[in-house]
Amino acid sequence: MSQKTLFSSFIIYLLITWAAISTIIIYISLFDNHTTTVLKQDAPPQEEEPTNISHILFGISASVKTWATRHHYIDLWWQPNVTRGFLWLEREPYQNDTWPETSPPYKVSGNTSLFKYGGPQRHQIRMARVVKESFELGLENVRWFVMGDDDTVFFPENLVSVLSKYDHNEMYYLGGNSESVEQNEGNFFKMAYGGAGIAISYPLAMVLAKGFDKCIERYTHLFGCDGRIMSCASEIGIHLTQELGFHQV
Ligand SMILES: *[C@@H]1O[C@H](CO)[C@@H](O)[C@H](O)[C@H]1NC(C)=O
Ligand SMILES: *[C@@H]1O[C@H](CO)[C@@H](O)[C@H](O)[C@H]1NC(C)=O
Ligand SMILES: *[C@@H]1O[C@H](CO)[C@@H](O)[C@H](O)[C@H]1NC(C)=O
Ligand SMILES: *[C@@H]1O[C@H](CO)[C@@H](O)[C@H](O)[C@H]1NC(C)=O
Repeated sequence: MSQKTLFSSFIIYLLITWAAISTIIIYISLFDNHTTTVLKQDAPPQEEEPTNISHILFGISASVKTWATRHHYIDLWWQPNVTRGFLWLEREPYQNDTWPETSPPYKVSGNTSLFKYGGPQRHQIRMARVVKESFELGLENVRWFVMGDDDTVFFPENLVSVLSKYDHNEMYYLGGNSESVEQNEGNFFKMAYGGAGIAISYPLAMVLAKGFDKCIERYTHLFGCDGRIMSCASEIGIHLTQELGFHQV
């Protein structure tokens, strides 16, 4: 082989190597682009702010008949323009009653007179449906639905610190059983008692709301609204996460 041919083979060899390396580099950069886009899509949403009071939507079961005396309980903890939520009434309040600005705004519950019910307190159906009706308001930025009675006293700061321990993107049914053994015996032990407050995370409320009206008709024999909520959550496979701070006496 002459020196000249040897030199041109060397040039050709260089060219081929260069082409191969560039191809590999192009492939790598394409692939790299691809993986970064995929990673970007799969990346978890930006670090969320910790749960605060504005992420809780309260749903208080109340009654026009007893509001005049019961509102003192709510006045103890309700903070206008800080706590969010509604009082759910069986009908519009009396025309002569002016609704105080310091009380939670109210909503009138849906008509439940056609629901099947076997027990002594038909209004328990209306109370159970507060979770569904609160969800269906479609309010933004709600992480937790917290149900209570008109004589339930919440400590909003404590509630926030308890709820922020849990991932609101998972299904949670939180509360406490009764401090009365007879009540636990008469109802259930692993149940969140309504009088103590019941906290339901957004994803669970979404699933509950969907089938709730059909579900509560499967439990006509139960006494309370809380037993219905427990039963419907169990049907979804979600059982009570007990928090000792919820007291039912
Ligand atoms: C609560 O967190 C939200 C973000 O989800 C934020 O916009 C809001 O200012 C916070 N509110 C309070 C009272 O800290
Ligand atoms: C709540 O906010 C509204 C609108 O910003 C204001 O008009 C009202 O006076 C506030 N209420 C209280 C009790 O602070
Ligand atoms: C408002 O009217 C209802 C019935 O019409 C009555 O029972 C109630 O006492 C009245 N309330 C006030 C504050 O006058
Ligand atoms: C509720 O529905 C029943 C049956 O449809 C009806 O008779 C009743 O008047 C309704 N009640 C209210 C408050 O609308």
